[in-house]
Amino acid sequence: MFCVKILTAYPEMFPGVLGYSVIGKALKENVWSLEIINLHDFGFDKRKSIDDSPFGGGPGMIIRPDVVEKAVNHIKENSSRNSLYIYMTPSGKTLKQLDLVKYSKFEEIIILCGRFEGVDQRAINILGFREISIGDYVLSGGEVAAQVLVEGCIRLIPGVLGQSESILEESFSEELLEYPQYTRPQVWKDTHRKEHHVPDILLSGNHEKIKRWRFNKSIEKTENNKPDLLIKNRNKK
Ligand code: ADE
Repeated sequence: MFCVKILTAYPEMFPGVLGYSVIGKALKENVWSLEIINLHDFGFDKRKSIDDSPFGGGPGMIIRPDVVEKAVNHIKENSSRNSLYIYMTPSGKTLKQLDLVKYSKFEEIIILCGRFEGVDQRAINILGFREISIGDYVLSGGEVAAQVLVEGCIRLIPGVLGQSESILEESFSEELLEYPQYTRPQVWKDTHRKEHHVPDILLSGNHEKIKRWRFNKSIEKTENNKPDLLIKNRNKK
Protein backbone atom coordinates (compact mmCIF):
# COMPACT_ATOMS: atom_id res chain seq x y z
CA MET A 1 0.00 0.00 0.00
CA PHE A 2 1.21 3.52 -0.87
CA CYS A 3 1.85 5.41 2.41
CA VAL A 4 1.71 9.16 2.91
CA LYS A 5 2.98 10.68 6.16
CA ILE A 6 2.54 14.38 6.87
CA LEU A 7 4.56 16.35 9.41
CA THR A 8 2.59 19.44 10.38
CA ALA A 9 1.88 21.92 13.17
CA TYR A 10 -1.81 21.87 12.06
CA PRO A 11 -2.93 18.21 11.98
CA GLU A 12 -6.61 19.24 11.89
CA MET A 13 -6.09 20.57 8.33
CA PHE A 14 -6.01 16.92 7.12
CA PRO A 15 -7.35 14.98 5.31
CA GLY A 16 -8.94 18.15 3.88
CA VAL A 17 -9.52 17.67 0.13
CA LEU A 18 -7.87 14.25 0.32
CA GLY A 19 -10.98 12.85 2.03
CA TYR A 20 -13.20 13.48 -1.01
CA SER A 21 -14.04 12.11 -4.46
CA VAL A 22 -11.89 9.38 -6.06
CA ILE A 23 -8.92 10.11 -3.74
CA GLY A 24 -11.08 9.87 -0.59
CA LYS A 25 -12.71 6.68 -1.89
CA ALA A 26 -9.28 5.12 -2.51
CA LEU A 27 -8.28 6.13 1.04
CA LYS A 28 -11.36 4.38 2.49
CA GLU A 29 -10.63 1.32 0.34
CA ASN A 30 -7.02 1.18 1.65
CA VAL A 31 -5.43 1.76 -1.76
CA TRP A 32 -3.28 4.29 0.11
CA SER A 33 -2.85 5.32 3.75
CA LEU A 34 -2.51 8.71 5.38
CA GLU A 35 -0.77 9.31 8.71
CA ILE A 36 -0.65 12.77 10.23
CA ILE A 37 2.19 13.52 12.63
CA ASN A 38 1.79 16.53 14.90
CA LEU A 39 5.11 18.38 15.19
CA HIS A 40 4.03 19.64 18.63
CA ASP A 41 4.25 16.03 19.92
CA PHE A 42 8.02 16.49 19.48
CA GLY A 43 8.22 20.01 20.95
CA PHE A 44 11.17 20.80 23.19
CA ASP A 45 9.74 22.44 26.31
CA LYS A 46 6.75 22.22 28.67
CA ARG A 47 4.68 24.17 26.13
CA LYS A 48 5.76 21.79 23.34
CA SER A 49 7.20 24.67 21.30
CA ILE A 50 8.60 23.78 17.89
CA ASP A 51 10.09 27.07 16.70
CA ASP A 52 12.46 29.88 17.63
CA SER A 53 13.65 33.23 16.24
CA PRO A 54 16.16 33.28 13.36
CA PHE A 55 19.88 33.70 14.02
CA GLY A 56 21.10 36.87 12.30
CA GLY A 57 17.80 38.62 13.03
CA GLY A 58 14.68 39.10 10.96
CA PRO A 59 10.95 38.57 11.37
CA GLY A 60 9.05 35.37 12.08
CA MET A 61 9.90 32.07 13.65
CA ILE A 62 11.87 29.09 12.33
CA ILE A 63 11.00 25.42 13.03
CA ARG A 64 13.88 23.86 14.98
CA PRO A 65 15.98 21.05 13.43
CA ASP A 66 15.91 18.88 16.58
CA VAL A 67 12.08 18.89 16.54
CA VAL A 68 12.00 17.78 12.89
CA GLU A 69 14.63 15.11 13.57
CA LYS A 70 12.65 13.64 16.48
CA ALA A 71 9.52 13.46 14.32
CA VAL A 72 11.48 11.80 11.47
CA ASN A 73 13.08 9.29 13.87
CA HIS A 74 9.62 8.40 15.14
CA ILE A 75 8.57 7.63 11.54
CA LYS A 76 11.73 5.60 10.86
CA GLU A 77 11.22 3.48 14.00
CA ASN A 78 7.92 2.30 12.58
CA SER A 79 8.82 1.72 8.95
CA SER A 80 11.57 0.41 6.71
CA ARG A 81 10.09 1.43 3.39
CA ASN A 82 11.66 3.00 0.31
CA SER A 83 10.72 6.57 1.30
CA LEU A 84 10.85 9.97 -0.37
CA TYR A 85 11.24 13.04 1.86
CA ILE A 86 9.68 16.30 0.66
CA TYR A 87 9.61 19.74 2.26
CA MET A 88 6.89 22.04 0.88
CA THR A 89 8.33 25.55 0.43
CA PRO A 90 7.84 28.44 -2.04
CA SER A 91 11.62 28.45 -2.55
CA GLY A 92 11.68 24.83 -3.75
CA LYS A 93 11.84 23.33 -7.25
CA THR A 94 8.52 23.78 -9.05
CA LEU A 95 6.36 20.66 -9.10
CA LYS A 96 5.65 19.17 -12.57
CA GLN A 97 3.39 16.32 -13.72
CA LEU A 98 6.45 14.15 -14.45
CA ASP A 99 7.61 14.57 -10.82
CA LEU A 100 4.23 13.24 -9.66
CA VAL A 101 4.68 10.19 -11.90
CA LYS A 102 8.05 9.52 -10.21
CA TYR A 103 6.72 10.10 -6.68
CA SER A 104 3.78 7.74 -7.21
CA LYS A 105 6.28 4.87 -7.68
CA PHE A 106 7.71 5.17 -4.15
CA GLU A 107 6.35 3.02 -1.32
CA GLU A 108 6.11 5.98 1.03
CA ILE A 109 6.27 9.78 0.87
CA ILE A 110 6.96 11.88 3.93
CA ILE A 111 5.98 15.52 3.61
CA LEU A 112 7.12 18.28 5.94
CA CYS A 113 4.82 21.32 5.94
CA GLY A 114 6.51 24.60 6.76
CA ARG A 115 4.81 27.41 8.69
CA PHE A 116 6.11 30.70 10.02
CA GLU A 117 9.27 31.79 8.20
CA GLY A 118 10.35 28.24 7.44
CA VAL A 119 12.44 25.36 8.74
CA ASP A 120 16.10 25.39 9.88
CA GLN A 121 18.09 24.58 6.71
CA ARG A 122 20.23 21.99 8.54
CA ALA A 123 17.16 19.80 9.07
CA ILE A 124 16.33 19.95 5.34
CA ASN A 125 19.88 19.07 4.26
CA ILE A 126 20.86 16.50 6.88
CA LEU A 127 17.55 14.61 6.94
CA GLY A 128 17.41 14.55 3.13
CA PHE A 129 14.26 16.53 2.30
CA ARG A 130 13.71 17.64 -1.33
CA GLU A 131 12.47 21.24 -1.42
CA ILE A 132 9.34 21.45 -3.58
CA SER A 133 7.11 24.41 -4.49
CA ILE A 134 3.69 24.13 -6.13
CA GLY A 135 4.06 27.48 -7.92
CA ASP A 136 5.44 30.99 -7.89
CA TYR A 137 3.29 32.44 -5.12
CA VAL A 138 3.45 32.32 -1.34
CA LEU A 139 0.90 30.50 0.83
CA SER A 140 0.88 30.90 4.60
CA GLY A 141 1.91 27.28 5.11
CA GLY A 142 2.73 24.04 3.32
CA GLU A 143 -0.47 22.16 4.21
CA VAL A 144 -2.51 23.15 1.14
CA ALA A 145 0.56 22.61 -1.05
CA ALA A 146 1.03 19.12 0.43
CA GLN A 147 -2.59 18.29 -0.39
CA VAL A 148 -2.05 19.43 -3.98
CA LEU A 149 1.01 17.18 -4.30
CA VAL A 150 -0.65 14.15 -2.69
CA GLU A 151 -3.88 14.56 -4.72
CA GLY A 152 -1.84 14.67 -7.94
CA CYS A 153 0.17 11.63 -6.91
CA ILE A 154 -2.61 9.34 -5.67
CA ARG A 155 -4.67 9.68 -8.86
CA LEU A 156 -1.73 8.11 -10.74
CA ILE A 157 -1.84 4.90 -8.69
CA PRO A 158 -3.33 2.11 -10.84
CA GLY A 159 -7.02 1.55 -10.12
CA VAL A 160 -7.68 4.95 -8.50
CA LEU A 161 -9.05 6.57 -11.67
CA GLY A 162 -11.67 5.10 -13.96
CA GLN A 163 -10.63 4.11 -17.47
CA SER A 164 -11.93 7.26 -19.18
CA GLU A 165 -10.01 9.53 -16.80
CA SER A 166 -6.84 7.49 -17.36
CA ILE A 167 -7.10 8.12 -21.10
CA LEU A 168 -7.10 11.87 -20.40
CA GLU A 169 -3.86 11.29 -18.53
CA GLU A 170 -2.27 9.92 -21.72
CA SER A 171 -3.21 13.04 -23.65
CA PHE A 172 -1.42 15.17 -21.05
CA SER A 173 1.71 13.07 -21.37
CA GLU A 174 1.85 14.03 -25.06
CA GLU A 175 2.34 17.54 -23.68
CA LEU A 176 -0.57 19.26 -25.36
CA LEU A 177 -3.37 20.83 -23.34
CA GLU A 178 -6.82 19.32 -23.53
CA TYR A 179 -9.19 20.41 -26.33
CA PRO A 180 -12.45 22.18 -25.36
CA GLN A 181 -15.42 19.97 -24.48
CA TYR A 182 -19.18 20.52 -24.90
CA THR A 183 -22.35 18.83 -23.67
CA ARG A 184 -26.12 19.43 -23.69
CA PRO A 185 -27.96 21.68 -24.35
CA GLN A 186 -26.91 21.80 -28.00
CA VAL A 187 -28.12 25.41 -28.12
CA TRP A 188 -27.69 27.22 -24.81
CA LYS A 189 -29.82 30.35 -24.36
CA ASP A 190 -28.15 32.51 -21.69
CA THR A 191 -29.96 34.86 -19.28
CA HIS A 192 -29.77 37.63 -21.93
CA ARG A 193 -31.54 35.26 -24.37
CA LYS A 194 -28.43 35.04 -26.50
CA GLU A 195 -27.91 31.68 -28.21
CA HIS A 196 -24.61 29.80 -28.03
CA HIS A 197 -24.19 26.78 -30.32
CA VAL A 198 -22.00 23.72 -29.92
CA PRO A 199 -19.44 23.60 -32.81
CA ASP A 200 -21.18 21.89 -35.78
CA ILE A 201 -18.33 19.50 -36.43
CA LEU A 202 -18.95 17.71 -33.10
CA LEU A 203 -22.47 16.84 -34.30
CA SER A 204 -21.32 15.61 -37.73
CA GLY A 205 -20.61 12.02 -36.73
CA ASN A 206 -17.39 12.16 -38.79
CA HIS A 207 -14.86 10.76 -36.30
CA GLU A 208 -11.80 11.46 -38.45
CA LYS A 209 -12.76 15.14 -38.82
CA ILE A 210 -13.62 15.43 -35.12
CA LYS A 211 -10.22 13.99 -34.19
CA ARG A 212 -8.41 16.48 -36.44
CA TRP A 213 -10.52 19.41 -35.13
CA ARG A 214 -9.76 18.45 -31.53
CA PHE A 215 -6.05 18.15 -32.26
CA ASN A 216 -6.02 21.63 -33.83
CA LYS A 217 -7.94 23.06 -30.87
CA SER A 218 -5.39 21.46 -28.52
CA ILE A 219 -2.56 23.18 -30.36
CA GLU A 220 -4.46 26.49 -30.33
CA LYS A 221 -5.08 26.22 -26.56
CA THR A 222 -1.47 25.27 -25.87
CA GLU A 223 -0.24 28.21 -27.98
CA ASN A 224 -2.45 30.59 -25.99
CA ASN A 225 -2.05 29.20 -22.47
CA LYS A 226 1.30 27.40 -22.41
CA PRO A 227 3.44 28.24 -25.46
CA ASP A 228 6.57 26.99 -23.67
CA LEU A 229 5.22 23.42 -23.94
CA LEU A 230 5.18 23.62 -27.76
CA ILE A 231 8.69 25.08 -27.87
CA LYS A 232 9.95 22.29 -25.60
CA ASN A 233 8.32 19.62 -27.81
CA ARG A 234 9.79 21.17 -30.96
CA ASN A 235 13.28 21.14 -29.45
CA LYS A 236 12.90 17.49 -28.45
CA LYS A 237 12.24 16.39 -32.05
N1 ADE B 1 4.41 27.03 1.29
C1 ADE B 1 4.07 28.32 1.09
N2 ADE B 1 3.96 28.61 -0.20
C2 ADE B 1 4.23 27.45 -0.88
C3 ADE B 1 4.29 27.10 -2.24
N3 ADE B 1 4.05 27.99 -3.22
N4 ADE B 1 4.62 25.84 -2.56
C4 ADE B 1 4.90 24.95 -1.59
N5 ADE B 1 4.85 25.22 -0.28
C5 ADE B 1 4.52 26.46 0.08
